[in-house]
Amino acid sequence: MSQWELLDTGEIPGNSGEMQLHQLGNEFSISVVGVGVLMSTMAHGSEDALAEVACKIVADRPHPRVLIGGLGMGFTLAAALRHLGANAEVVVAELVPAVVKWNRGDLGAHAGHPLQDARTTVREGDVAKILKAERRAYDAILLDVDNGPEGFTRKKNDWLYTLDGLTGAYSALRPMGLLAIWSAGPSRDFTERLHKVGFEVKQSRVWEHDNKGDLHTIWLAERGP
Ligand SMILES: C[S@@+](CC[C@H](N)C(=O)[O-])C[C@H]1O[C@@H](n2cnc3c(N)ncnc32)[C@H](O)[C@@H]1O
Repeated sequence: MSQWELLDTGEIPGNSGEMQLHQLGNEFSISVVGVGVLMSTMAHGSEDALAEVACKIVADRPHPRVLIGGLGMGFTLAAALRHLGANAEVVVAELVPAVVKWNRGDLGAHAGHPLQDARTTVREGDVAKILKAERRAYDAILLDVDNGPEGFTRKKNDWLYTLDGLTGAYSALRPMGLLAIWSAGPSRDFTERLHKVGFEVKQSRVWEHDNKGDLHTIWLAERGP
């Protein structure tokens, strides 16, 4: 196989288009049809870091609960499980059912099949629904559903980055809980929005992979007591 081969296509719910899984040798990529590559197995340093910055802080809390949106290729989920102990619980919300199916197959081997870990629960659906419904439920919420505050997969994800969406995340966190958000680039407006909601905010730049590639942005926002 010397060219990327299309393995499968899955619908993005809410008439938001389609995603495709491609393979070249042992590598996989997931793309949004008509938009571009969302992620690939060849670069996941900043996805790992998203989990590390928050999970290493909450790991020692009693029975830590972590929410991840979305699953992607499972690298953030696998990193969260690595940094958490045996008494932790990780809920991963994934909008696209096909993405969950792909992770249960050969693609899942790249992240070490984190869906098979007994601490993992998958919820197929929009992470926004969980943020609207749950209160004081999570020690950490890790959001990597899109390209960051500037949407990419679907317009409806914009809500997550608004004052309303961030207030939902704040309420879904337990006291002193942490919200970690991945983005392709920085946004001063977004940092101000996090402050407005009441978070203490730290922002870091993280290499795409192995100190190489693009620099991505991670916000780590802490809720008050
Ligand atoms: C960039 S990928 C995440 C990559 C992931 N951090 C990893 O380590 O592989 C974004 C994922 O979020 C999912 N997604 C997009 N919008 C979502 C939403 N509103 N709720 C839950 N999942 C969503 C996409 O289908 C995709 O699987």
